[in-house]
Amino acid sequence: RLQQAGDEEDVRCYRQQEVRRAAVLAIGTANPSNVVEQRDFPDFYFRVTNSDHKLALKDKFRRICEKSTIKKRHLYIDEALLAANPEMTAYMTPTLDMRQAIVSKKIPELGAAAATAALKEWGRPASDITHLIVGSTSGGSDMPGADYHLVRLLGLSPSVRRVALYHQGCFVGAAALRLAKDLAENNPGARVLAVCAETNVMYFRGVDDAHFDNLVCQALFGDGASAVVVGADPVAVGGGGGERPLFELVHATQTLIPETGGAIEGLLREVGLTFGLVSEVPSLIAKNIEAGLREMLAGAGVDVADDVDRNALFWAVHPGGRAILDKVEGALGLRPEKTRASRKVLAEYGNMGSACAWFVLDEMRRWSAAEACGTTGEGCEWGVLLGFGPGLTMDTVLLRSAHI
Ligand code: CAA
Repeated sequence: RLQQAGDEEDVRCYRQQEVRRAAVLAIGTANPSNVVEQRDFPDFYFRVTNSDHKLALKDKFRRICEKSTIKKRHLYIDEALLAANPEMTAYMTPTLDMRQAIVSKKIPELGAAAATAALKEWGRPASDITHLIVGSTSGGSDMPGADYHLVRLLGLSPSVRRVALYHQGCFVGAAALRLAKDLAENNPGARVLAVCAETNVMYFRGVDDAHFDNLVCQALFGDGASAVVVGADPVAVGGGGGERPLFELVHATQTLIPETGGAIEGLLREVGLTFGLVSEVPSLIAKNIEAGLREMLAGAGVDVADDVDRNALFWAVHPGGRAILDKVEGALGLRPEKTRASRKVLAEYGNMGSACAWFVLDEMRRWSAAEACGTTGEGCEWGVLLGFGPGLTMDTVLLRSAHI
């Protein structure tokens, strides 16, 4: 049925637009060089926020860090940055200006590093990029914004058509693929560079006795950027092997989970960005994932999702937290190895918000090549990428892997 859906989509694309389906042609990632080991983080965090006397909270924080399954994170936040900006170690102090001054510089830099890696793999000149999509929750408040700075830093054409997805949350990596697919399939010859970059400089803050979700955020979020080049109709590149599709973007949907508007909140205030997370987030996602998946598969031309053997697909699930991966795995009846790539990204980098999705695809295709799996999707032909965020919003992308 997926095969049939793919074929129908091919025909639809051909008839309506006379272009072929868009695919991810290259992936690049980048992180700050400062690495924080998760096992050392409770001591660091309670010391720099002058909270060592809050023994019960520190114990709780240690439990959260241990249960996160995160091994390390890359963070711009370090002793020197906090010494220069000590107000950021309080729970609620007006600090927006100092945070903004840092992220306005760091987000374009980090995004440019990931984009440079993607452009290098792609193999064509940066000036061939026709569209730029930039996503960031932590670094998108200035005008002109990170998208403008990326044009300059990467040497893109001044006529590149820009779209910014700022302050949306973690689903933006998936949503940007949906947008890139439409742009690539509806503008013959288009090559879309999409970049997502995040840093917890916007939301690092001290301990508060009543706000335990803040502890969860401090234990989970990491800094990172990822970038993809998306295009239809791969072309030969002078001297090399030409553009190589890594994952075809077959169908993409977005849906709101009813009655969950307050489950994840990100509020930009004088104190920076504060996150609110209810502890039911993983179960709310799990309870609604089947409906979201069915909606996406129905849109792709598959009538009944039950017909699809979930374990015959590859899965790129937003690594928002260990419990999210556990619950999604359980709700969809996935074998543990199906979330390997998502768990690896969570373990090595933490939750990097919008940047996570393409880290997972990158991990997947690299592992698939190293293990000689036969396809970029761990040996499977078809797969699903899932993004989650405030709303609760669920972005779902049906992917088709490439032979390797
Ligand atoms: N708020 C407050 N406290 C929480 C909490 C929450 N959301 N989630 C867990 N806790 C507390 C528990 O009450 C518990 O406290 P005690 O030890 O005092 O009992 C402690 O954390 C540890 O919880 P558990 O023992 O139940 O351990 P766990 O197996 O649930 O692991 C966890 C903890 C790693 C945080 C896990 O719950 C998890 O992964 N949660 C999901 C986190 C989440 O919501 N991520 C989404 C981030 S937002 C996003 O990705 C999208 C975006 O747009 C930004």
